Amino acid sequence: MPPAGPTPPAVPAGPLPRNDPRQYDELAGEWWRPDGAFAMLHWLARARAALVPPASRPDALLVDLGCGAGLLAPHLAGKGYRHVGVDLTGSALEQARTHGVTVVNADATAVPLADGCADVVAAGELLEHVPDWRRAVGEACRLLRPGGLLVLDTLNDTALSRLVAVGVAERLPTVPRGIHDPRLFVDHRALLAECARHGVDLRVRGVRPEVSGLIGWLARRLVATEGPGGRPPRIVPTWSTAVLYQGRGVRRG
Ligand SMILES: C[S@@+](CC[C@H](N)C(=O)[O-])C[C@H]1O[C@@H](n2cnc3c(N)ncnc32)[C@H](O)[C@@H]1O
Repeated sequence: MPPAGPTPPAVPAGPLPRNDPRQYDELAGEWWRPDGAFAMLHWLARARAALVPPASRPDALLVDLGCGAGLLAPHLAGKGYRHVGVDLTGSALEQARTHGVTVVNADATAVPLADGCADVVAAGELLEHVPDWRRAVGEACRLLRPGGLLVLDTLNDTALSRLVAVGVAERLPTVPRGIHDPRLFVDHRALLAECARHGVDLRVRGVRPEVSGLIGWLARRLVATEGPGGRPPRIVPTWSTAVLYQGRGVRRG
């Protein structure tokens, strides 16, 4: 009989591969900590919601693709939408449900909802995580009714974006390490073309955290033990789309 050796672990040791969705399970406790690992998603959710007007009819539906734990929900309060969130990660959806989101556990590239059901489709910080982002865009556009609104934000496929969003941000407490795979970043011209192909005239603009707010937040975050408190940094427009950008477009009808 061979000598008994150590039992191999059921799960490989070490960090998960870049963009592995299991990271969201490991980070489940971070979603709703305003100054936690997903702090910047809170800032971006506020800026994304500002692109969404109040609902123009009763029973208006907003479909939030890659909704995570539903961080968009508080910023939509009072706008009159039923908020349906679609995501791959069950642990995030459990939290989204407690924030009033009707959840659908599905892939954004194959959404089990009807054509034209949505007045608004939001895709916040999703496309740069989806290997076939074109299919997710096709689904977003399919879900929109004629005249419906698409709002999104994502990371551009540029050397500067890879440097800022991975090389720098992943060393700061603003972005979890390994959460992005820079090979999946989304060229804004390709995104415009794909949306146009699916009947949505998208316009994009660069955005970034307000510098003074970000520096103050980082300084407080680095010295505080209980989180920085104070006003969170605002996301503001900037002249370049080279790193982070927002898109807004209406479905032709
Ligand atoms: C960076 S988080 C953004 C979450 C949310 N939109 C926000 O801004 O707070 C990316 C989310 O996309 C989800 N996701 C990644 N790939 C997906 C896919 N193919 N279909 C659906 N959800 C996906 C992840 O589970 C995660 O919740």
